[in-house]
Amino acid sequence: MEVDLEQTLVLIKPDGVQRGLIGEVIHRLENRGLRLVGANFQQIAKDFAELHYAVHKGKPFYDGLIDYITSGPVMAMVWEGPNAILAVRQTMGATKPTEAAPGSLRHDFALEVGRNLTHASDSSETARAEIDLWFRADDLVKWDRDIDHWVFEA
Ligand code: RTP
Ligand code: MG
Repeated sequence: MEVDLEQTLVLIKPDGVQRGLIGEVIHRLENRGLRLVGANFQQIAKDFAELHYAVHKGKPFYDGLIDYITSGPVMAMVWEGPNAILAVRQTMGATKPTEAAPGSLRHDFALEVGRNLTHASDSSETARAEIDLWFRADDLVKWDRDIDHWVFEA
């Protein structure tokens, strides 16, 4: 089956890990039909966080953001599927939890922008760059899921 699949980087940030929401986030992405292709539970150092959030350097929330993302372990994952980048951001909800659509993760589990549980790539360019930053190519698993043809239109 040939389908145009996108890959996107998802992080469960330290608040999501500490609150025991790893399972909830994975459950929602699995329910959506997306396919997991890589996962790595890790504590990142400040210099790595600065690489990941380079685009936000100089913004008023930057220092707080670096402290937040390095405050505990994160669950880094790559998820794959048709329109995965958009689909994952929709499942996460808007950056500010009070603007996130009801039913989205940030609506259902968060209140503050600085404790908004997850990160998800926002374009195909950033997805590629972020996946390359967080994962080695051999750590991503190519696999066919038995249910793929019930979720991905051939
Ligand atoms: P993310 O990158 O984490 O998926 O979130 P996003 O695209 O929805 O938001 P982005 O604009 O990229 O911001 C990155 C993270 O910085 C924190 N933030 N704080 N205090 C603020 O005004 C503010 N704005 C952004 C959030 O944790 C946001 O997810
Ligand atoms: Mg972003």
